[in-house]
Amino acid sequence: MAIRTLDDLDFEGTSVGVRVDINSPLADDGSLADDARLKAHVDTLTELLERGARVTVLAHQGRPGGNEFEPLETHARRFDELLDAPVTYTDATSSAGAREAIDGLDPGQALLLENTRFYSEEYMEFEPKVAARTHLVERLSPHFDAFVNDAFAAAHRSQPSLVGFAHTLEAYAGRVMEREINVLGNINETPTPRAYVVGGAKVPDAIRIIRHGIEADLADEVYTAGLVANVFLMADGVDLGEAAADYIMEKDVWDQIDRAAALLETHGNQIHLPVDVAVTRGNTRTEVPIEALPTPSDGDVMDIGSETVEQYATYLDSMGTAILNGPAGVFENEAFQLGTKGLFEAVADTEYSVVGGGDTARAIRKFDITGFDHVSTGGGAALAMLTGQNLPAIDALDS
Ligand code: 3PG
Repeated sequence: MAIRTLDDLDFEGTSVGVRVDINSPLADDGSLADDARLKAHVDTLTELLERGARVTVLAHQGRPGGNEFEPLETHARRFDELLDAPVTYTDATSSAGAREAIDGLDPGQALLLENTRFYSEEYMEFEPKVAARTHLVERLSPHFDAFVNDAFAAAHRSQPSLVGFAHTLEAYAGRVMEREINVLGNINETPTPRAYVVGGAKVPDAIRIIRHGIEADLADEVYTAGLVANVFLMADGVDLGEAAADYIMEKDVWDQIDRAAALLETHGNQIHLPVDVAVTRGNTRTEVPIEALPTPSDGDVMDIGSETVEQYATYLDSMGTAILNGPAGVFENEAFQLGTKGLFEAVADTEYSVVGGGDTARAIRKFDITGFDHVSTGGGAALAMLTGQNLPAIDALDS
């Protein structure tokens, strides 16, 4: 891939359109519940501003009709606090007012435009050359000298602001995008042996990651946790009890048991399952060895057990790379945090560690676990990379 980065242009005095992904969880009052995605872009924006660019930032928030489909005013205020340079906001995206605000920027100043998805074109997916003909891209392109895409977390979408400007302007990867491509695009070059640690509740995605990891010879060993492990345990013939089976039904992943069984059949020697789990008994955590399941008094399986954490940690200690996706249990509940904390700490201690996924990032921040070599900003985009798919916004940058 030949992707230009910020090293490839002299930005002094230029007007640069920068696409970021600051799509964030919002509190009930509309304030930012988490600013991690804004913080991730500080390096790119600071570098451009310090190098004298006139920076216009484009971004989306939420989806049409959703609770978090909101204006970007609070995001602009937070950027203004995070950056040393002034950041202004306009409640317009491509109107005459927006274009005037762009043209009025001085070198070293930044402007955040309104939520791109307030305009219907931006919630559609196009080929880059068609995206280049959308109103947004046609109206704004003449006001930019260059385009920087730093929105890795949205790179699996081919919406106009993500792929269209790369067709009309010289386009560059920002520092977030560059790092993500370097790490997730080169997993095959990380130290071996390589372990995939796959948990969480998004079972179909997890099974795709495991299958691709094994079949593309990226994963030497796979350690399962979370609801993913429960599905694999059932595929292996373990009776987890009524509550756990009901939950698998409720999450609509019962059909995944057959897919897990097929993987166990062909690659069972590489796929590790928990040796114990934590279940609810009353309101408390009770650890039960797999062979003792089900016991009549048990409720749902909410976490992996401490024996499993210890065993996985010992194996991970001898791995060159650990790639983590998904928590080990219901970590929002204090009684069931042990698995996620213990497993994540073991991954962080591995020689080289990469983590991806929205719930994973949330757990890392909650427990303040440090020491990972790369924490991806992407949920769906990281998943796409880990399952070997091409990402349209990255392809569009390839010159
Ligand atoms: C994300 O949060 O995964 C990205 O911002 C993309 O959002 P979307 O799934 O609403 O397109």
